[in-house]
Amino acid sequence: MAPKIAIVYYSMYGHIRKMAEAELAGIKEAGGDAELFQIAETLPEEVLQKMYAPPKPTDVAVLKDPAQLEPFDGILFGIPTRYGNFPAQYKAFWDASGKQWQQGSFFGKYAGLFISTGTLGGGQESTAIASMSTLTHHGFIYVPLGYKNTFADLANLDEVHGGSPWGAGTFSAGDGSRQPSALELRVATAQGKAFYETVAKAHP
Ligand SMILES: Cc1cc2nc3c(=O)[nH]c(=O)nc-3n(C[C@H](O)[C@H](O)[C@H](O)COP(=O)(O)O)c2cc1C
Repeated sequence: MAPKIAIVYYSMYGHIRKMAEAELAGIKEAGGDAELFQIAETLPEEVLQKMYAPPKPTDVAVLKDPAQLEPFDGILFGIPTRYGNFPAQYKAFWDASGKQWQQGSFFGKYAGLFISTGTLGGGQESTAIASMSTLTHHGFIYVPLGYKNTFADLANLDEVHGGSPWGAGTFSAGDGSRQPSALELRVATAQGKAFYETVAKAHP
């Protein structure tokens, strides 16, 4: 049976959503498929308006319960940085997963990450490292992007780009005006493909 993959993300301004689509394209390139889920918003509407946050897309299911992820063999998490760390919405989701933690529901499942920050040095790597604790406590097997399939893009110093061996990445710019570049989307697609192939080895 083909492995079941989920792409779980939170995205306030759409950058991580775009990266999620690129990850999905890579999974499809590898012959698989994935289900997309958004992590639920926790901020009040009044605050979201002050942050100029557009309405959330309605074509991606909102995760209501961590139990919805139990059927999946591998999960890619898309995370927009807050202060060099993951956002409260992401934490709130995990803080509701005590049952899965206690029962080991996610033990041995595969996980990967992709990240968006406003700027260089804004925390692409620190966000990935910060998220390791949650994955570890749940017993996920973390699959890094590494360099094998993306060295030329990750090591490219001719243009500004996000991404690291921890996972694909993009820069939104401080005002959100920058969109994921072709290079960044290419890396995300390569990550989706490699992630699927890795999970497929365990779930042929
Ligand atoms: C409260 C807050 C804190 C943020 N902290 C950081 C930060 O520490 N470093 C950084 O580079 N960008 C930071 N940003 C910018 C976000 O990372 C950026 O808006 C996000 O990556 C865009 O992704 P999205 O369009 O998917 O929401 C912050 C944004 C907000 C609203």
